[in-house]
Amino acid sequence: MWFYPKIVAHRGGGTLAPENTLAGMRCGLAHGFRAVEFDVMLSADNIPVLMHDPQFGRTVPGHGQVAMTTAAELAGMDAGSWRGPEFAGEPVPKYEQVVAFCKENGIWMNVEIKPSPGFEAITGAVVAETTRKLFAQELAAGAAPSELPLFSSFSFDALAAAQDTAPDIPRGFLLDILPPDWLDKLRSLDAVALHTNHKKLTPDQARAIKEAGYGLFCYTVNEPERAREILTWGVDAFCTDRLDLIGPDFAA
Ligand code: G3P
Ligand code: MG
Repeated sequence: MWFYPKIVAHRGGGTLAPENTLAGMRCGLAHGFRAVEFDVMLSADNIPVLMHDPQFGRTVPGHGQVAMTTAAELAGMDAGSWRGPEFAGEPVPKYEQVVAFCKENGIWMNVEIKPSPGFEAITGAVVAETTRKLFAQELAAGAAPSELPLFSSFSFDALAAAQDTAPDIPRGFLLDILPPDWLDKLRSLDAVALHTNHKKLTPDQARAIKEAGYGLFCYTVNEPERAREILTWGVDAFCTDRLDLIGPDFAA
């Protein structure tokens, strides 16, 4: 039900490095993490890049929309200075660069498909097609689940498009609060896992999800005591920002 690592670095290096950058990936690796979550969005020229917010202002200075900016322009932008001067000039990476880094270093990926509003289906389709190409050898060889990324998204439409495009790459549905029809949604997406906000999860819900046969992943758990608690509920895995407090072997 959960074939993946239990402790996952959120957005690359959590809060220790600029999120969704190669510097973040290096930070996670330096803390011993071999499992990472990051967010993928499309540029104006439909290139998947790592980005959380659809508009500039927080991690990239200025105004404007990611969906109106080309990947080449994004690569010239500064996604690091907001986190500290030592990260100045850190670019917005392309998804394929990050996959290459993770493959070189044996890092498992939870790829969160994060569409700009209005671009849900195309983002799911392009990210899935890109991933299908990047993992063509693994897919042809019938790779174990842990050798493939796990897609997740808050967007049902993005995941449905990923399912159509690359059905053999597994999916987890991200839900902030569990709706009454969560099980129907998971079945419809042929998902392997449910990803949810630990702050809103109850022990009964955790039990129901596990009894239904799904992996259960929580975001974003930053306190060791809370992490221990939800693990006793049957939560399989979680991502954390606090790589300094919750290490990769925390659940061992
Ligand atoms: O994928 C888990 C978590 O990253 C979802 O929330 O906003 O950090 O992308 P967010
Ligand atoms: Mg995310």
